[in-house]
Amino acid sequence: MRRTGTYATSTTLGEAVQAFVPLPLPPCEPLLAPACFEAGNRAAELALARLSGVSGLVPSVDWLLYSAVRKEALLTSQIEGTQATLVDLFDEEAGFAIGNTDDVEEVTNYLRAFRLVQDNLRDPAGLPISVRLLCDAHRLLLNGVRGSGKQPGELRRSQNWIGGTRPGNAAFVPPPAERVADLLADVERFIHDDSASTLPPLVKIALVHAQFETIHPFLDGNGRIGRLLIAALMEHWHLLPEPLMYLSGYLKQHQSAYYQRLSAIRTQGDWEGWVSFFLEGVAAAASEAERSIVAIASLIAADRRRLLASPKAGPASYRLFEALPMMPRFTVELARQALNTSFPTANAAVKLLEDLGIVSELTGQKKNRSYSYQDYIALLTR
Ligand SMILES: Nc1ncnc2c1ncn2[C@@H]1O[C@H](COP(=O)(O)OP(=O)(O)O)[C@@H](O)[C@H]1O
Ligand SMILES: [Mg+2]
Repeated sequence: MRRTGTYATSTTLGEAVQAFVPLPLPPCEPLLAPACFEAGNRAAELALARLSGVSGLVPSVDWLLYSAVRKEALLTSQIEGTQATLVDLFDEEAGFAIGNTDDVEEVTNYLRAFRLVQDNLRDPAGLPISVRLLCDAHRLLLNGVRGSGKQPGELRRSQNWIGGTRPGNAAFVPPPAERVADLLADVERFIHDDSASTLPPLVKIALVHAQFETIHPFLDGNGRIGRLLIAALMEHWHLLPEPLMYLSGYLKQHQSAYYQRLSAIRTQGDWEGWVSFFLEGVAAAASEAERSIVAIASLIAADRRRLLASPKAGPASYRLFEALPMMPRFTVELARQALNTSFPTANAAVKLLEDLGIVSELTGQKKNRSYSYQDYIALLTR
């Protein structure tokens, strides 16, 4: 059996435990066998190439990104246990009253963290993928009510554990705190040193994510930052021109296999099993995103034809319709702001879309009416 780490004695809460310290990447003795990833990698790269091509089906890739990025934010937070829905998120953005504000805050924090990372990577003067950038993202992710006691933005200074009530009875004890910085520096080197490995980029991403989870460098948020790191590396290695894939959907659907595969790297030296699971996930998630884009494009095309066929259609209703994919829940006031027009003009445009059955009113009231592009939301939440 391949050894993937060593054990170090760590004393916490008056108890000595064996903490796992992973060996640096890539896996060795034996090296990863190409036979275990070649076919899976080819299938995943093909699915990503198809996904990149299909975004041309709609006039603006921003429409697709709007929902894809929010789905990833929601699903990665749901893996952590956050109870929020896509509609909660849309409602929050539309300024509608929502009940579970703490849950939605966790999701919007993830969106902020994601944007920070993307902005840095796209800015020639920005930070590269690095411990510093991940800490900055962590600070945004854990900002607010739930995260404030968990050292936002900082590597942990104490021993943590996964499963169980204390390190002594835990399923997994990550490395001692004083080793975390060096172990992350190894990961950083593996990412940026092209001579470190000739493995395909998706395989490297699989390795990096698992290694990050094994190091478990933060007091909380390790899963979400580790999955954000996947998206960041997809960008860094140009695997997808835009973040249209939401891998967390697959990971959530196969959550127990996800955790078991991570554990098996440690307990059975099984890097191969994790890598092939990850590649299958990328292929499945990319195909799912592609199907979703085709469905969105055909819904929008059909609704647009209906609008253009109406004798009452004009510039305002047409522009409002084009704004809907990024504003699926709205009020007349939001429509007015989006169109930069008068209230009566916005109101007439909304009314036309309602009469055509494209949007529906939610409150049944005369005042503060709220609208929803329901068929589109149904597609996204299917
Ligand atoms: N057995 C395991 N070995 C290594 N990592 C694991 C294991 N089980 C779960 N994980 C990782 O730990 C994450 C949970 O850690 P946590 O710090 O609570 O992150 P978050 O708050 O973002 O969910 C999981 O999402 C998963 O990525
Ligand atoms: Mg957590």
